[in-house]
Amino acid sequence: KRLILVGPPGSGKGTQSPIIKDDYCLCHLATGDMLRAAVAAKTPLGVKAKEAMDKGELVSDDLVVGIIDEALKKPSCQKGFILDGFPRTVVQAEKLDEMLEKRGVKVDKVLNFAIDDAILEERITGRWIHPSSGRTYHTKFAPPKVPGVDDVTGEPLIQRKDDTAAVLKSRLDSFHRQTEPVIDYYKKKAIVANLPAEKKPEEVTSVIKKALS
Ligand code: AP5
Ligand code: ZN
Ligand code: ZN
Repeated sequence: KRLILVGPPGSGKGTQSPIIKDDYCLCHLATGDMLRAAVAAKTPLGVKAKEAMDKGELVSDDLVVGIIDEALKKPSCQKGFILDGFPRTVVQAEKLDEMLEKRGVKVDKVLNFAIDDAILEERITGRWIHPSSGRTYHTKFAPPKVPGVDDVTGEPLIQRKDDTAAVLKSRLDSFHRQTEPVIDYYKKKAIVANLPAEKKPEEVTSVIKKALS
């Protein structure tokens, strides 16, 4: 299947992605993860993206469209994919349609992680990540066995630089202004499934499975 995950910061996109990926054997492309890797490696792309990311603003459409266009060429992404965090503007959605048209395929489903803004600060400020695998924990909702340590590898967990209450405000503002119109774009195509993203992770997973069956 070809899926898009859309929702505000902390709505659970990254948490649900590995589960969907395992069940449907798809490639998982998260523009946020790819950009963070580029920033860490100080590539030209990372240098250009860093300032906007640190402020909680969107990186330019051209940069992220370029990343996705390149990534969709991977052999593992030919049968299906999960786009996590892309498209995030209507321009990106239109460019994606063009890219897929060239390949003769289209988006099957858009999973809309619907959730109230008020819940997100606690989710974001309590998040801890294992950088190399992308495994995500939460001090209260999904604690690791040993605080600050990845369950599988024993390596240290980190917090994202943009996971502060102040930067979250700006990320939410970008979401409401620039990304909510993307949901309307796909509603017109009647491929949006709304998820109760404030519920427990397992409950969200089961709604996703129903939506995809
Ligand atoms: P990105 O990395 O995409 O960040 P985001 O959209 O802000 O989303 P998050 O990763 O914060 O949230 P999530 O939904 O994945 O939450 P998670 O599942 O981890 O983007 C970062 C930046 O990159 C952007 O600000 C922008 O600058 C740039 N960028 C990226 N893509 C771009 C694009 N297309 N165009 C332009 N710029 C772009 O969950 C959060 C926490 O909550 C975790 O601790 C988790 O354990 C916990 N949790 C999850 N689900 C539940 C639940 N059901 N109940 C309780 N706790 C839960
Ligand atoms: Zn994420
Ligand atoms: Zn809004």
